[in-house]
Amino acid sequence: MSRLRAERLELGYDQRSIVHDLDVTIPDRSFTVIVGANGCGKSTLLRGLARMLTPRAGLVLLDGKHIRSLPSKEIARRLGLLPQGPIAPDGITVADLVGRGRYPHQGLLRQWSATDELAVVDAMAATGITDLADAYVDELSGGQRQRAWLAMALAQQTPIMLLDEPTTFLDIAHQVDVLDLCADLHQSRGHTLVLVLHDLNQACRYATHLIAMRDGRIVAEGHPSEIVTADLVERVFGLRCRVITDPESGTPLVIPAARRTATGPSPAPVSPPAPEPRRDAAETAS
Ligand SMILES: Nc1ncnc2c1ncn2[C@@H]1O[C@H](COP(=O)(O)OP(=O)(O)OP(=O)(O)O)[C@@H](O)[C@H]1O
Ligand SMILES: [Mg+2]
Repeated sequence: MSRLRAERLELGYDQRSIVHDLDVTIPDRSFTVIVGANGCGKSTLLRGLARMLTPRAGLVLLDGKHIRSLPSKEIARRLGLLPQGPIAPDGITVADLVGRGRYPHQGLLRQWSATDELAVVDAMAATGITDLADAYVDELSGGQRQRAWLAMALAQQTPIMLLDEPTTFLDIAHQVDVLDLCADLHQSRGHTLVLVLHDLNQACRYATHLIAMRDGRIVAEGHPSEIVTADLVERVFGLRCRVITDPESGTPLVIPAARRTATGPSPAPVSPPAPEPRRDAAETAS
């Protein structure tokens, strides 16, 4: 039995339905990666799986129990969600933000402990932000802030982690650091990870289970080597490409088709539209 799964899940906002009749089983101890075009419903699905969004129909099961029947703290000890574009409280320091990851582990009788302190120190070291402990979150660079949030999710020490685009804003070395860190959590601690990633080649390198979504539905899932083909990429993203073998890792490597070939005709030049007078600039000048 899988710890996290959903059956016939329908999710949406107001009148709009986004995720349609979706069945998904997150394999235990997998490094699952969800890919799909902007707006196809990846973040919505993650929110649904983490009980941040109430399904219109269907259900999410955590350890075989209807997730809505479990107390919030109980869920937060088993499953952590790093949302896309989280907003930090004003005037909070990095160490305080990371410390918030420990909230589910505290109770009326158990206040801040040495275990909590160690979890925070470890999470900051793992994400390379120890030197920033006393900095204010709103004064960090985009990449530093992203790593502070990731540290908060790590400090929560949940066996299941849902991370929505954890590599956004990171330079390439820090992207690899974060993905390696996730791979370590998955391999050495047996954590189950579900990441949303936009970089298909990174997804293919790290995922043990890949889920490709389009228009709120799963189009394909399985091991990247089994499912990633030029045809799938075209169906999911509308992008023509070649899929070759990554010489470094042996996994699929997606190469978008070049815009024009050396022998093919050049596209007609497009002249840029004449700039419109900028009202705001004129107003500021006057
Ligand atoms: N809070 C919200 N209220 C209303 N509509 C929303 C809300 N959040 C997302 N949507 C809509 O739901 C659809 C799916 O959004 P979602 O954020 O799940 O996409 P995504 O696949 O994560 O995209 P991206 O790759 O850009 O992050 C979009 O059309 C979006 O406009
Ligand atoms: Mg998203």
